[in-house]
Amino acid sequence: MAKFLTDSPRDIELAGKLLRAGTLVAIPTETVYGLAANAFDEDAVRRIFLAKGRPFIDPLIVHVPTFAQAGSVADTSNPAAAKLAERFCPGPLTMVLPKKNCVPQIVTAGEPTVAVRMPRHPLTQKIMASAGVPLAAPSANPFGYVSPTTAQHVQDSLGDKIGYIVDGGSCDCGIESTIVLVGEEIRILRLGAITREEISECLGAPVALSRGLMEAAAEGARGNDGARAQLAPGMLKKHYSPHAQVCLVDDAEREFPPLLGEVRRSSSREKYAFVFQKRPTRLAGAGGDFASVENVFWLSESGSAADAARAVFALLRKLDAAGYEKIFIEKCRDTGIGAAVNDRLSRAAAK
Ligand code: TXA
Ligand code: MG
Repeated sequence: MAKFLTDSPRDIELAGKLLRAGTLVAIPTETVYGLAANAFDEDAVRRIFLAKGRPFIDPLIVHVPTFAQAGSVADTSNPAAAKLAERFCPGPLTMVLPKKNCVPQIVTAGEPTVAVRMPRHPLTQKIMASAGVPLAAPSANPFGYVSPTTAQHVQDSLGDKIGYIVDGGSCDCGIESTIVLVGEEIRILRLGAITREEISECLGAPVALSRGLMEAAAEGARGNDGARAQLAPGMLKKHYSPHAQVCLVDDAEREFPPLLGEVRRSSSREKYAFVFQKRPTRLAGAGGDFASVENVFWLSESGSAADAARAVFALLRKLDAAGYEKIFIEKCRDTGIGAAVNDRLSRAAAK
């Protein structure tokens, strides 16, 4: 089991010392928990990939306290980078920028670019200051599994592989940062806690959403991505997945009652869970459809997409732990942060 560290000055100092010395430490951020290592220490970074079972072809995000410090690992001269940083950093935004030579190849999987993020969580900021080095950190989950939003989630799935977890409570956003490629072209590579609408508004033009590095590989792109596709066939598209099978529905109020009825009548012993976006209005079912509601859940009391984002990974983990084999889950409305929630849900449901 990993040792939990607190937000006490002593533990923060210890976390910084451990990180500088090449030890892996799981840390909270406002998005999800990350599994951090000194980005300049190749052996430490290699241990991140091994602990997660992550293929070495999938590059890591480098975390620094300020945009000025991003300049130590990346070329930040693109005016769009400054614009985005001014509005969203520190915060749940990751920019993919031309990398500097000091960043080891293992961090960027050989790419000429590096993903840089400046987390705003006060405890993350303190840990970064204490470490005094940029921190390479992917989400602290086994590769492909649901991301962690509490220290206990990290303990549950990586506790036997790492020594330390800093406990910063539950993550505020609950889903990962938005990744923006800031080059000659500007594109969103991963939807996340900052919305596409906000990014477009900040830059004064609509920003396209394109496939991330690994998705491009999964779809068999040529060049570098072709090599990626060969190295990790079939494992790149499905992500954020619980062990249970996930099935998405558009409108739970309409689609769940007949499904629930069917499940009740069938002789199957499989455990099914039903997840609404919003607390259902007719829990007991007008026509007595819901004989038992113990397997009915919801992501938000009021239908807020931000609440759904905060809750979605924790609920998927809880349903896995409770032994559900199939999870029917309602899609979020597809705008704002709801689009990022749907992105995670459709990857969780991918075969
Ligand atoms: O919110 C977050 O971003 C969290 C916290 C811990 O900061 N981190 C996170 O890291 O989600 P990870 O490793 O789970 O996801 C990073 C994504 C990967 O899909 C990776 O392919 C992409 O970023 N990425 C990293 N470097 C890249 C690069 N140079 N070009 C394109 N994509 C890159
Ligand atoms: Mg991840």
